[in-house]
Amino acid sequence: MTTTIAIAGKGGTGKTTLAGLLIRRLAEGQTGPILAIDADPASNLNTVLGLPLEKTVGDVREETSEKARANLLEAGIAKRDLLDYEINSSVVEGVGVDLLAMGRPEGPGCYCAANNMLRAIIDTIADSYPWVVIDNEAGLEHLSRRTTRDVEVLLIVSDATVRGITTAGRIAALLKELNTKVGKHYLIVNRAAEGLTPELRAAIDEHGLDLLAVLPDDPLVAAFDAAGRPLLQLPDDSRLKVAMAPVVDTVLDQAQGKEVTGAHHR
Ligand SMILES: Nc1ncnc2c1ncn2[C@@H]1O[C@H](COP(=O)(O)OP(=O)(O)O)[C@@H](O)[C@H]1O
Ligand SMILES: [Mg+2]
Repeated sequence: MTTTIAIAGKGGTGKTTLAGLLIRRLAEGQTGPILAIDADPASNLNTVLGLPLEKTVGDVREETSEKARANLLEAGIAKRDLLDYEINSSVVEGVGVDLLAMGRPEGPGCYCAANNMLRAIIDTIADSYPWVVIDNEAGLEHLSRRTTRDVEVLLIVSDATVRGITTAGRIAALLKELNTKVGKHYLIVNRAAEGLTPELRAAIDEHGLDLLAVLPDDPLVAAFDAAGRPLLQLPDDSRLKVAMAPVVDTVLDQAQGKEVTGAHHR
């Protein structure tokens, strides 16, 4: 069985950073191979993971459509087979974690049939991994259009502002309207140098969000990012890495079906 963990939240709140640290800890725990899906068109999860990125699903979709339009497909090769081959080859293999980047979303000229094929191909790839971690753009609408996959755990990341929490609340409220079923969603407040202020606490309660963790601002993370160094090289005692440990434990417990609430992490 595959456990799918997705990360959503306003831009710049730390989704990709936290996805990278989550993946690293899962990989270290040797719970089995992980497929990282970068579902943000501004793809940069590969940098955080220190993996090269050559082709995105968007690139493959466009190239294949062009070939099909120009009748360049060799006799006997169906478009679906070519897509299947190309998408499988675009999976970047790392140590304990492989990466698939979604790239640009489909334009108006893209047919439903091609999207359905892509969905099926990606779902089949994902099904062969015990863990799938999806780094999203702000919401989940995009994900919902591109996969039929259910998500066991959704982490909604916010910065330490009331506005950020409000956005997180909106994302949580939208979950009902998606095709994607989400088992459990949690709020993570990232870069909270001062911890939780009463205003933030009130906003979290108002939106009925289940707070999983309040994470510190880690100057080392910013320094690594500035230097383009993969976060996988962060030292074990980095503040953010240490603070992420209980988050990953909760996700693991949740995935194993244990009853978990965020309360004991407050
Ligand atoms: N806890 C943290 N401490 C310090 N810097 C952080 C932290 N979380 C994220 N950052 C920095 O904030 C910026 C945005 O993070 P990123 O993960 O790219 O956000 P998103 O994927 O949500 O757009 C990056 O420069 C990253 O290094
Ligand atoms: Mg990102």
